[in-house]
Amino acid sequence: MNICVFASGAGSNFKAILDSIKKGYLKSKVCLLITNNPECGAVIIAEKNNIEHLVVNKKMFPDLSGKKYSDLFLKALTKYKTDIIVLAGYMKMIESEVLKKYKNRIINIHPALLPSFGGKGMYGINVHKAVIASGVKVSGVTVHFVNENYDEGKIIFQKCCEVKNGDDEFTLQKRVLKMEHRYYPQVIKSLENLEIGISDLEF
Ligand code: GRF
Repeated sequence: MNICVFASGAGSNFKAILDSIKKGYLKSKVCLLITNNPECGAVIIAEKNNIEHLVVNKKMFPDLSGKKYSDLFLKALTKYKTDIIVLAGYMKMIESEVLKKYKNRIINIHPALLPSFGGKGMYGINVHKAVIASGVKVSGVTVHFVNENYDEGKIIFQKCCEVKNGDDEFTLQKRVLKMEHRYYPQVIKSLENLEIGISDLEF
């Protein structure tokens, strides 16, 4: 599969995917990185790995809205023959035209067990803070398809980990991130191995 990764932050999941490709674990390749943040770590990772990146944000294209803005994404996705979009810490909503064209072909990783601790504002360290504050004894990783609502698409994969006595949001984040790096490539591999084309999935 040709994967287009969308990322806004450090890009450690992006790197984990690239490492899995380098090791031959994944057969797919990353054809493009799209980001809203030209200064993020993911861009540096793309440059180091000779992967093209495209910065799209409203600041760069203040005059474009609606369909014209979506077209920026769609043109790039088509140009790089994207089969699947992998969100890896992407901080923007996906344009509705992109959602339509890539229905069931956009996945996201969330650092907690959805449907708990998801939704607007639940990103980064906020998620782990909320988990610790709630007093739950397990957290984990969720990979899900992306739809028009934050963190609400169909769940593909979940794995839990313990929330240990004495954990704070940072120790928990570290434990969960390590799991993300292990399991996100595994989920992508399971999509590579589908007997039907990913675009034929129906639910
Ligand atoms: C990860 O925790 C992921 O679950 C969430 O955003 C974070 C991205 O981290 N969606 P990184 O940029 O991949 O290091």
